[in-house]
Amino acid sequence: MSKNVLITGGSGFIGSHVVDALVKKKYKVTVLDLNSPKRKDVKFIKGSILDKSKIRSSLKNINIIFHLAAVSDITKVKKIPLKTIETNVLGTTFLLECARKEKIKRFIYAGSVYSYGSAGNLYTTSKTTSELIIKNYNLIYGQKYTILRYATAYGPKNRNVDAVSIFVKRALKNLNLVIHGNGKQRRNYIYVEDLGNQSVKALEKGATNKIITLVPKKSTKIIDLAKIIIKLTKSKSKIIFNNRKKRLDDFEPIPSYESNYAKNLLIWRPKHSLKKGLKKYIKLKDF
Ligand SMILES: NC(=O)c1ccc[n+]([C@@H]2O[C@H](COP(=O)([O-])OP(=O)(O)OC[C@H]3O[C@@H](n4cnc5c(N)ncnc54)[C@H](O)[C@@H]3O)[C@@H](O)[C@H]2O)c1
Repeated sequence: MSKNVLITGGSGFIGSHVVDALVKKKYKVTVLDLNSPKRKDVKFIKGSILDKSKIRSSLKNINIIFHLAAVSDITKVKKIPLKTIETNVLGTTFLLECARKEKIKRFIYAGSVYSYGSAGNLYTTSKTTSELIIKNYNLIYGQKYTILRYATAYGPKNRNVDAVSIFVKRALKNLNLVIHGNGKQRRNYIYVEDLGNQSVKALEKGATNKIITLVPKKSTKIIDLAKIIIKLTKSKSKIIFNNRKKRLDDFEPIPSYESNYAKNLLIWRPKHSLKKGLKKYIKLKDF
């Protein structure tokens, strides 16, 4: 496949790792984002995915789109519902429309495991709706795609809003780790570098017009995550529970990813177990 890639959201948490993986594989990378990318050796176009003429001009000589730009913070979505739908749904549609006109070979989309259920409210709705529109563009116009449903990413260059980064920071200061709810809610934590590398593998032929779920095999209870982090950081922090605050993104019931994992088309072997990834992240001191 040709090597000219446009990545929207390439300056963000996961996007910056996809950029790293693409550069490593010798792709020519252009980042379209509101903010500057983390590395300077890629082409940067400052602009919004809501600006159609900017998208059109960004797509000159591009063969592949990785679309990661989004309102991605589930907690923030509640405060900015319109911006969420506008960015996540309309932004995706603008990109698809330009992609088909510019004859883009593959449209790779950052979906979410939340699309297996409805937890996560408007955020999930925006991600699932985008998936449906992508499939429609394939049916109507033949636009080829790959949807990557990402699990919960953690690791360097994060947004400082996820449980892992908050727990690690507090554990290193011996502050209490606060859990909302009873701690039995589960997440599928995946080291962000693994997501970056695997995203590039989505360019393989077998991944055309498929949904691929990038999850670890095992999910982890939040309370266990807190315990592991306390152990790894040799912290004196205590775990305390705040039962008053229910999070909008809590899974109920827990979706089973095991079957999807087995059905995955790509050979998906995350290099980092939760412990290995956490150790690496803590050692990097990127907080
Ligand atoms: N972080 C996770 O655990 C996770 C899990 C599942 C799916 N996802 C999805 O993966 C993608 C990347 O997530 P992330 O955690 O890296 O998010 P992030 O917020 O760190 O990155 C998003 C990037 O998009 C850019 N952006 C936002 N609006 C834009 C616009 N209108 N035009 C151009 N750029 C814009 C931001 O500047 C930012 O650099 C998102 O689509 C998100 O929904 C993330």
